[in-house]
Amino acid sequence: VQSNSTSATADTVTADLSDRLARIVGDKHLITGGVRLRPHLEELRGRYTSACRAVALPADAGEVAAVVQTCAAAGVSIVAQGGNTGAMGGAVARAEQVIVNLARMNRVLEVDPVNYTMRVEAGCILANVQAAAADAGRLFPLSLGAQGSCQIGGNLATNAGGINVLRYGNTRDLVLGVQAVLADGRIWDGMNSLRKNNTGYDLKNLLIGSEGTLGIITAATLKLFPAPKRRVVAVAGVASPDAALDLLGRLRDASSDRLSTFELMANIAVQSAVRHIAGQTDPLAGEHDWYALIVADGTVDGDGDAGAGLRRDMEAGLARALDDGVLRDAVIAESESQARKLILLRENIVEAQNFEGGSIKHDVSVPVAQVPEFIRRVHAAILDAMPAARAYPYGHMGDGNIHFNISQPPGMDKEKFLAQWRPMNRIVHEIAHQLGGSFSAEHGIGLTKLEEMARYKSAVELDLYRQIKRALDPHNLLNPGKVLPAASASR
Ligand code: MLT
Ligand code: ZN
Repeated sequence: VQSNSTSATADTVTADLSDRLARIVGDKHLITGGVRLRPHLEELRGRYTSACRAVALPADAGEVAAVVQTCAAAGVSIVAQGGNTGAMGGAVARAEQVIVNLARMNRVLEVDPVNYTMRVEAGCILANVQAAAADAGRLFPLSLGAQGSCQIGGNLATNAGGINVLRYGNTRDLVLGVQAVLADGRIWDGMNSLRKNNTGYDLKNLLIGSEGTLGIITAATLKLFPAPKRRVVAVAGVASPDAALDLLGRLRDASSDRLSTFELMANIAVQSAVRHIAGQTDPLAGEHDWYALIVADGTVDGDGDAGAGLRRDMEAGLARALDDGVLRDAVIAESESQARKLILLRENIVEAQNFEGGSIKHDVSVPVAQVPEFIRRVHAAILDAMPAARAYPYGHMGDGNIHFNISQPPGMDKEKFLAQWRPMNRIVHEIAHQLGGSFSAEHGIGLTKLEEMARYKSAVELDLYRQIKRALDPHNLLNPGKVLPAASASR
């Protein structure tokens, strides 16, 4: 566990600042200790300890602005936090910092089915955003494992990905406007609902993915889509990532490009979920080296037949792939509950990996066509470095994002294995880099990937980032130490 303290003398927030913050948000909504503090300090992977002792929960953008102004006047920096489900330590705070958590700002402000948009406050839980859209017969397509607890503001701040990126894009692609509190406490209202607005620099997209380092997003206007009338969910067993790539192309064609999800899972991951997660069964009769979870959804139907056309197209595509030897076996869900179970298989493999001991994690993307080559090369290189290591790759093959995780050799000391985190990361990231890929496809940078930022980003790019940071946050008050590596760490 790394401590996120910069100096041994790091102070705590003064009583005077606490009093001022409590006057803004109300005593009840300033947490300075006790059991309510803990969820704000714990971090998903247990890699950092958050020493923060002041969590402010403002009720609206005005209170966020007042909190920022008050902290700025005291020279105290702020870590914006949503559902605290991020994987890179981006919401970890030091003892002398204040966490601003957006949980109370959880109103869906408007759903406009005609304009295909909705306006939400930043603290809305993602699942509630999805449900509000569905109630209006619309789809908000962002979908990821943490959707029951992550907040939409955090999704924007980290430009979250998930399982529907193949069809609908990343969070960035799903946003039309934002409202944000800036480092000096001003509120920028960019909540437009326009699909065309070609007027100057794209400030919204600077804030999205900036992990709270350039501003605190307080509300957003989101894009909606027609609610699918039918979804076809299948799991296929294939012999190799090459076969999976072939299958992906065939099913995009067969479905007239109506695939929203194409996830790849190694056999070890599927069997781990089957073994360790209650109620999880192997959907296919025999084991396969690789599995693909495939979802197609349709809004318009070729023959106006309540979705039967899409199912027919998918069945035909899968049958042809079987005949041509591209897949070994496949199952299509017969009911919505079966469909949910197949999707859960993919979601459960993340938790299932915890049962396999220590895990060194990756979140890499390469061009989709390079996924098989990437997997081959990483697999060989990892076994070369640690012959008993167990490759546990899975991920969003449809968009080229593979979580090539590594589970410890059985019987090995967990800490000894985890001590190999950096060299293993280096192996995987170097191969991704050589293939034109990225060291962080969807989880962002936070604290975890600072070294990679310094290594893989060009001096020009880092210089531009720093200039932008200085322009928007000249006193380094917003989530300092995240995203941007220290200048001395750059190549
Ligand atoms: C997933 O795709 O399930 C997650 O991004 C994996 C993770 O949280 O490590
Ligand atoms: Zn993922």
